[in-house]
Amino acid sequence: MKQKSILITGGAGFIGSHVVRLLVNKYPDTQFVNLDLLTYAGNLQNIEDVTHKHNYTFVRGDIREADFLQKLFNKYHFDGIIHLAAESHVDRSIENPSAFVETNVIGTVNLLNAAKNLWQNDYKNKLFYHISTDEVYGSLGKTGLFTETTAYDPHSPYSASKAASDHFVRSYHDTYGMPTVISNCSNNYGPNQFPEKLIPLFINNIKHNKPLPVYGDGQYTRDWLYVLDHARAIDIIFDKAKIGETYNVGGFNEYTNIDLIHLLCDLMDEKLLRPKGSSRKLITFVKDRPGHDKRYAIDATKINKELGWKPSVNFEQGLSQTIDWYLKNEVWLNNVTSGDYQKYYNKMYGNR
Ligand code: NAD
Ligand code: TYD
Repeated sequence: MKQKSILITGGAGFIGSHVVRLLVNKYPDTQFVNLDLLTYAGNLQNIEDVTHKHNYTFVRGDIREADFLQKLFNKYHFDGIIHLAAESHVDRSIENPSAFVETNVIGTVNLLNAAKNLWQNDYKNKLFYHISTDEVYGSLGKTGLFTETTAYDPHSPYSASKAASDHFVRSYHDTYGMPTVISNCSNNYGPNQFPEKLIPLFINNIKHNKPLPVYGDGQYTRDWLYVLDHARAIDIIFDKAKIGETYNVGGFNEYTNIDLIHLLCDLMDEKLLRPKGSSRKLITFVKDRPGHDKRYAIDATKINKELGWKPSVNFEQGLSQTIDWYLKNEVWLNNVTSGDYQKYYNKMYGNR
């Protein structure tokens, strides 16, 4: 019997690298191909430890290139796709929305087409799993939670592009009968996150005694989930989800930005052996992000009841471990912030 072959896109990024590590180690009889363009956010150091596994192949490539994708699909005959590759940062989407349309919308449609062409309407034991965000639901008031039936109401070019890609995935299920699943997750944190997102950016700034730019009044709420808990949810959804369904994934863990930043500052003072209160002095309130969503919070009851998943990492412990990881992995942090690693990868993988 043919060995099962799974494509993971974006597996050199933050969440994707944790998913690759979990699945490659857990399923030694399945072949995994990690397709990643290695943009500024993709980094092979994130998955160094799986590079030599017999059931793992890395391919540098671009989901915006339809012909390339079709060749890749014809070569590996994928049974399943776990699609994480994306432009993922809201602030960058405000600067350059078109890049988000190209990668997140057109890239996703290219993958759907390549899967449809390969599978030719024979969808037995096949699955296209699309990883999305809670940001597609827009912004909550003081109360309430996002459920799987909350209407889409994206406000940033990033969330608009993810919403569009979700709609395309559902349309391939409804129109062509493709077996698809979508999950919408809250804010992730943990090791290997590019230091443009709030938590790693602030850890790095505190370390270097640089100002901590808090947008607006800091009274924005996010629901934080440890990245390994998200990776576990992705594994369970890929294995057990009902075809055509959507699952919300969240931490049941709401923090206002300012409360989170205070906690982070206090933990950093302890770890860096600085006098209590020194990191908080770095907090600087700056101009707000345009279109800034007030509050995100996920109701993860469905995945809990139907698939038995729940978060396992307590936030204070997870945050403490995350800080330890960034302080220990100075070389990683210096590489990604200096940009030198890009030159290295271009040299190593310039020809795909
Ligand atoms: P990331 O920015 O860390 O990683 C994205 C990866 O995609 C990188 O390795 C990058 O090189 C790759 N990539 C980008 N453009 C590509 C292209 N054209 N072709 C091939 N590869 C390309 O992102 P992340 O935070 O790991 O997020 C992964 C997915 O999860 C995204 O789809 C994102 O929308 C979703 N998500 C993220 C969060 C979060 O908090 N980070 C929460 C919910 C959902
Ligand atoms: P971010 O990590 O960019 O994730 P997202 O916008 O996808 O939720 O930001 C998390 C929150 O932190 C969000 O409310 C914006 C805020 N923020 C700041 O206040 N300052 C910053 O420098 C950054 C990057 C984010």
